[in-house]
Amino acid sequence: MNPASHVDLARRLFQHVKTNHAATGKDRTALVKKSRYMSPERFAQEREHLFATTPQIVAHASELVEPGACMTVDVAGISLLLVRGADDEIRAFRNACRHRSTELVPEDAPCRKKAFVCRYHGWTYDLTGRRIHVPHLPSFDGLDADRDALVPAHAHVHGGFVWASLAPFDPAAHLGALDEDFALLDLGASRVHARASREVRGNWKLIVDAFLDGYHIRHLHRDTVYRFFFDAQSEAEAVGPHIRAATARRTLAEVNEITLENAPIRELVTPSYSIFPNTVLVLHPDYTSVMRLEPLAADRTRFVHTMLVSGEVSAEKKDHFDKSFALIDQGVFASEDLAVVESIQRGMQSSADELMLFGELEFAAKWFHDAVDSVVGD
Ligand code: FES
Ligand SMILES: [Fe+2]
Repeated sequence: MNPASHVDLARRLFQHVKTNHAATGKDRTALVKKSRYMSPERFAQEREHLFATTPQIVAHASELVEPGACMTVDVAGISLLLVRGADDEIRAFRNACRHRSTELVPEDAPCRKKAFVCRYHGWTYDLTGRRIHVPHLPSFDGLDADRDALVPAHAHVHGGFVWASLAPFDPAAHLGALDEDFALLDLGASRVHARASREVRGNWKLIVDAFLDGYHIRHLHRDTVYRFFFDAQSEAEAVGPHIRAATARRTLAEVNEITLENAPIRELVTPSYSIFPNTVLVLHPDYTSVMRLEPLAADRTRFVHTMLVSGEVSAEKKDHFDKSFALIDQGVFASEDLAVVESIQRGMQSSADELMLFGELEFAAKWFHDAVDSVVGD
């Protein structure tokens, strides 16, 4: 079902397209300090004050379906091990053995375990994190209570996603007014069809900026997706620290305003969300892109892109989704958006400008940077 907010964004874009008025009428520009993207001190503050305390989407629930399904994610520089237990609960633990801190699961890719056996000396933990075996146990004098389990973090499944944090949290409270959108989008009924993970030589906020700006579609994506979209026809609104946005597709010019309410909205506009702080959702006509940004350093980010699809996937559809993912993941995001992010990170070294300039068509980035500043401090 279309959230009413999507119909509203589509209606506003419809008016802009009809009147050929690209500007959003906000008549504003914004300046963001270049050091926000480059300074290791700022990065350390973000880790401490933002990423260590704010709930984050870390996976889609369909990535951890069977008991024993597991994966690792980076939260505030800490590797967390996510696992579904035999009781169907998804739990998060610090990914470090209680003996001498060897990572229990070294890889970033999804895994499947009956128990976690440390490869160094064989300490073993069950899927609830309880320590169940220590080779030569009597050689440890007085080993018991404080090392009898993996150290837990906080995890919840909500809106189809797995959320995690180092601190206790309520995902619905974090989403605020967006929780209603999530309920209607029913992304829990989708599942991951494809996943790609890559390291980007750029600050994580440059990637969020890239997905908040409809101004670049005509130039950067000229040979790929520009043919589907109008030039600079995006609308956005701040929802707490999050941003809800939509970009007009060319098909929007072919409909009648009266029919918008019941129209297949995702064929007319492409809704997107910046879920504060580090997830971006893009709702393409027949699938959803989820981008999770794991900040590794001021100038390095792990970019994890998953494709969510729903319904039966026939062989023919699988082929279609595989091709769509290759086009959007490699052909558009990696070759165009992320390539520019890396170029900006290098360009900032050469630039004489201390401030990054955002025009009226890129103004949503200002809301995002203000939300970061309100948590991390100015
Ligand atoms: S570090 Fe894990 S068993 Fe020794
Ligand atoms: Fe783009």
